[in-house]
Amino acid sequence: MEKLIIKGNTPLNGEIKISGAKNAALPILAASLLSNAPIQISNIPHLQDVTTIVSLLGQMGVRITLDERSNIEVDASQLTSFHAPYELVRTMRASVLVLGPLLSRFGEAIVSLPGGCAIGTRPVDQHLKGMQAMGAEMSIENGYIKAKASRLRGANIVMDIVTVTGTENIMMAAVLAQGQTIIHNAAREPEVTDLANFLNTLGARVSGAGTSTIIIEGVNELGGGCYHVMPDRIETGTYLAAATITSGKIKLKNTRPDLLEAVLLKLAETGAVIDTGADWISLDMKGNRPRAVDISTAPYPAFPTDMQAQMMAVNAVAEGTGVITENVFENRFMHVQELQRMGANIALKGNSAICSGTDHLHGAPVMATDLRASASLVLAGLAAHGETSIDRIYHIDRGYECIEEKLAQLGARIHRIPSNTAE
Ligand code: EPU
Repeated sequence: MEKLIIKGNTPLNGEIKISGAKNAALPILAASLLSNAPIQISNIPHLQDVTTIVSLLGQMGVRITLDERSNIEVDASQLTSFHAPYELVRTMRASVLVLGPLLSRFGEAIVSLPGGCAIGTRPVDQHLKGMQAMGAEMSIENGYIKAKASRLRGANIVMDIVTVTGTENIMMAAVLAQGQTIIHNAAREPEVTDLANFLNTLGARVSGAGTSTIIIEGVNELGGGCYHVMPDRIETGTYLAAATITSGKIKLKNTRPDLLEAVLLKLAETGAVIDTGADWISLDMKGNRPRAVDISTAPYPAFPTDMQAQMMAVNAVAEGTGVITENVFENRFMHVQELQRMGANIALKGNSAICSGTDHLHGAPVMATDLRASASLVLAGLAAHGETSIDRIYHIDRGYECIEEKLAQLGARIHRIPSNTAE
């Protein structure tokens, strides 16, 4: 295991490029199971979660080649298995995204139930319900979802709650189904739209993605094609929050401001001066301490739960008191105790965290508990006086490409060492 060592209290300054979106790349790679023609995908980020899904697809017989410019070619013409084992699924919940494509193309799938997770119980009942409505026989046996269908039939599906991967799984299942599927109360996240655009590139007929009603006209088969994955809006927001918390000035390229309007508005409320172009965002704190903000998370286009922990770190050093309410996951405050170890003044009340900003945090040894929680600890470490060491950073490698290189490019004093090394 490795840890990150950060010497804080330096404003970030400079320019970096944003990577492709993890949460778009994962469903897109899973969706490649739907086609038996070669597919080229570019802007895939180098992340542990991508490695996990690539291993999973590889175990199923999908041939994956990577060129020197990190473009991936996927060929799912020779599938040998429709089984997603527990050993891989338990390391990444998003593995459940292979369920819809496997069932739709092969009429059968055996996928491990994802099980518990640090940020909440996260059931997959909506995924199963949608596929059942399309005629699949679904059962849970020995911790596995077993699904069968001769050919899925289009259906009218009303999601009980807004779920991102649930919407994606059903959309993928419906692409090769017979007839029309309508998903009501669909997730509107940009990653859902990116998946729909990818499927349409291969010959699918998906409309309405980005709204709460998605219509899929089933087709008999998908072809090949080339696709460029959208930029990562959460990575973008995390670096903007890093500049905010350190009173810095940065410019992010290869991103899209339209993907994170709610986040940009909140950052502007902290006092950040934000400027945008079609594919860049700059943020300047003019050397000022941020002001505390109130945040309430909800599905897109509202403020994303995946930026909640990072904004908690900003509030921890901000002027005033901010209340952050988490409405998407029931247990996504694991970072609070670690931030408190660095001197943050946060009180939890139900699903709200009341944070009174302190003048400065102090460096401390802390532990990463999940992906976005670890990002908040990195941010706190960048702002803190003294040295912070963050253990269990495998969580951060799941979702942030080259985080220490990118931060170092912005002037941060950060490096990685083996966990058992004293510093
Ligand atoms: N839910 C159910 N039943 C279901 C599905 C979801 O009750 O069948 C509940 C969940 O327990 C949760 C809520 O619905 O309380 C929303 O969960 P959702 O299904 O939307 O989450 P997800 O699809 O599992 C994706 C992202 C997460 C992100 C959430 C919310 C991917 C691979 N993951 O998860 O990303 O937090 O949407 O926006 O797209 C991350 O990147 O750090 C991350 C956790």
